[in-house]
Amino acid sequence: MQRTAIYPGSFDPVTNGHLDIIERGRKLFDNIIITILHNPNKQFTFTIEERMEMIESCIKKYPDVKADFYNGLLVDYAKSQKAQAILRGIRAVSDFEYEFQMALMNRRLNRDIQTVSLMTGLRWIFTSSSIIKEAAKFGGDISGMVPPLVEQKLKDKFSENTAKG
Ligand code: PNS
Repeated sequence: MQRTAIYPGSFDPVTNGHLDIIERGRKLFDNIIITILHNPNKQFTFTIEERMEMIESCIKKYPDVKADFYNGLLVDYAKSQKAQAILRGIRAVSDFEYEFQMALMNRRLNRDIQTVSLMTGLRWIFTSSSIIKEAAKFGGDISGMVPPLVEQKLKDKFSENTAKG
């Protein structure tokens, strides 16, 4: 039986921390589907199409990883893909409560799907898409935290916004 995991998130944008989870997840699962879902608590910088394009450029080298988006419940999407697991990364203790809550809710919604949480690599413990965007917005150096294409997209996005006033 093929073991499939959904790696869900906002990916606004994808970071090297996300890619680390994907690489490690590949050792546990036969297939990984990176799925962009809606997080009602967030405002997005990039459109779904832009986020998909960035993810796809990063996963070209992995035949067992694909990207998708879904507008609805994560567990419904996981079931439609016959996935056994939801893969998530956990950084500092501050992530834990939210991740725990989400894992328990998802389990309540569908007991057949298990959440597998990987502790983030030490290098990525204090990085997040939001903090990287904030640094990029004010011209900070974010190289090494995101793939080069994403770094360029962030620069373009924020210079576009500055030009618009
Ligand atoms: O990267 P994020 O923003 O922490 O990811 C959160 C995400 C998108 C995985 C979560 O908000 C989500 O699963 N949204 C879809 C709706 C859903 O199924 N929510 C979980 C049960 S309440």
